[in-house]
Amino acid sequence: MIDTRVSIAGIEFKNPVTTASGTFGSGREFGEFVDLNRLGAITVKGVADKPWQGNDSPRIAEVYGGMLNSVGLQNPGADYFIKEDIPFLRQFDTKIIVNICGHTIDEYVRVTEKLRSADIDLLELNISCPNVKEGGMAFGTDCKMIEKVVGAVKKAAAQPLIVKMSPNVTDITETSKAAEAAGADALSMINTLTGMKIDIYRRKPVLANKIGGMSGPAIKPVALRMVWQTAKAVNIPIIGMGGISDAEDAIEFIMAGATMVSVGTANFSNPTATTDTISGIEKFMEDQSIKNLAEIRGII
Ligand SMILES: Cc1cc2nc3c(=O)[nH]c(=O)nc-3n(C[C@H](O)[C@H](O)[C@H](O)COP(=O)(O)O)c2cc1C
Repeated sequence: MIDTRVSIAGIEFKNPVTTASGTFGSGREFGEFVDLNRLGAITVKGVADKPWQGNDSPRIAEVYGGMLNSVGLQNPGADYFIKEDIPFLRQFDTKIIVNICGHTIDEYVRVTEKLRSADIDLLELNISCPNVKEGGMAFGTDCKMIEKVVGAVKKAAAQPLIVKMSPNVTDITETSKAAEAAGADALSMINTLTGMKIDIYRRKPVLANKIGGMSGPAIKPVALRMVWQTAKAVNIPIIGMGGISDAEDAIEFIMAGATMVSVGTANFSNPTATTDTISGIEKFMEDQSIKNLAEIRGII
């Protein structure tokens, strides 16, 4: 008998698979392809205290081994999210992780305060988006800023706090340790790597924003290395992501030290990638006589 349950900050998940923020909407778009009750958690698209317009189009480009996006955290704001999306998500037997964003520490705190009494399970603080001019990655690449924003949000938060880390740094263990010291209950990694594509006939960048965030299978080895290094450097759980497309990818991250994993860009080419990954993990556990994922977590 296998037991796929895992827990983070005292919250129990039926299995270790969630969705990477921004690649699954609020779950509605995928409800016709997958049974949302199967997911360990749904991690929703970034929510800010007020609606954000996002960046100009084009803001998506296909590249070798993945994609670039410069969506810029377009979202309808916390009031809409609380009224429309939470009641929808609560119909399902899954946990809700809410990704939050802001341009300033005040904005991060305001959205956190709005969510204080909301019926959600965890917060995921996005300090690693490469597509916004203020806030975002500017916070997540500087240890002093990480301590300030994580400390302020942790103080305002009613739910456990996951901090989403940027891969666009020299040493991910330094920024991760800063987030842990400031009160993070867990870390998620990695957000996208900054990248670019040029249309040589138009002699212009393909993205209106010129640069964007690279995601998909090509970033998996980088993400896996970062999870492995960080798991050895911190004492809080890690949610691993970056190019995970199937159970084999997910198990690599768990062996590197991740407690949970997120499926992101893979949802766009295979809408059942999340549930396929869960079934594949169950099969691997049965075939390999693994009763609990703790037996293989961080064994590398
Ligand atoms: C279109 C798109 C939108 C994204 N939006 C967000 C977001 O709102 N907040 C966030 O923290 N990460 C966002 N991300 C980053 C993903 O959650 C994830 O960290 C990254 O894509 C790496 O995983 P993957 O290779 O499996 O996609 C977005 C990624 C994509 C492709």
